[in-house]
Amino acid sequence: MEDSLLKSLPWIPADDPAENYHAAAKLSPWVSESFSGPYAFELANDPEALAGFGVPSSIVGSAERHPLAPATEPTPVGTVLRDRQSVTGFGPSQVDFGQLSRILLDTACTSPAGRRGAPSAGALYPLDVYLCVCGVRGLASGIYSLDPFAAELNRLRIGKDPRTFLSETLLFQDLAESSAFHVFFIASFARQRIKYGQRSYRFTLLEAGHLAQAMIMSAQESGIASCPVGGFIDQEVDDLLCLDGVEQSVVYSVAFGTARRRDAA
Ligand SMILES: Cc1cc2nc3c(=O)[nH]c(=O)nc-3n(C[C@H](O)[C@H](O)[C@H](O)COP(=O)(O)O)c2cc1C
Repeated sequence: MEDSLLKSLPWIPADDPAENYHAAAKLSPWVSESFSGPYAFELANDPEALAGFGVPSSIVGSAERHPLAPATEPTPVGTVLRDRQSVTGFGPSQVDFGQLSRILLDTACTSPAGRRGAPSAGALYPLDVYLCVCGVRGLASGIYSLDPFAAELNRLRIGKDPRTFLSETLLFQDLAESSAFHVFFIASFARQRIKYGQRSYRFTLLEAGHLAQAMIMSAQESGIASCPVGGFIDQEVDDLLCLDGVEQSVVYSVAFGTARRRDAA
């Protein structure tokens, strides 16, 4: 169904919880509370404050303990997962267009059999992939959208320099200044809303995680470093791509590039 047809459907109330939450969770240059909670400083400066995070939160007691069976030979996927790490910045070398293509083909594009590398509730695919390309050998710098069916990138008629855009948009300048390309996941919420109602907002965010993880793993396997980035000024991205920020909006992003010498495994 055409997005324009979905947009004209009358079933989203004026005071919608999902739309309100999406707006409340946005980052802006002048409102940073949603990114810096009351204990942000303590967590950043006291590693011991993190002790205890990540343990199961249910208070139901243990009946008996079962240590996991020791791993035998590492599998290829297991090796990729074990070696994965988020980097804080990238090296000066460029990424090849072939490497970028492989990541997109493996994860976001439809295969000849009509499948994609990341799952989608109801196969409704609410996320589109846009890229800021700054340092890819064989592909001009610019802002691109991915056509997942044709498996091609379309350079958009946007005059903004992608590196300047990233610097103005990301909270983490090292990532903005050194990435080879940066992927933004853009949600068209109505595509899933039409089937799943309020639960669709969750699904869309979960799917951004699936897609990002798939790209991170594919990149890792090709020796490309990455960092998931939630620290971006939402409106900068939405404005660049002429999205209304309500029915269509950026939800997540990942920076990719070559490993710095000290980050290399
Ligand atoms: C949802 C999400 C958002 C993140 N946003 C940022 C970010 O904006 N900037 C950044 O430097 N790292 C970001 N990270 C990376 C985390 O800091 C990193 O995953 C964490 O330190 C654990 O390290 P590891 O990924 O190497 O295991 C993000 C990770 C996730 C899952």
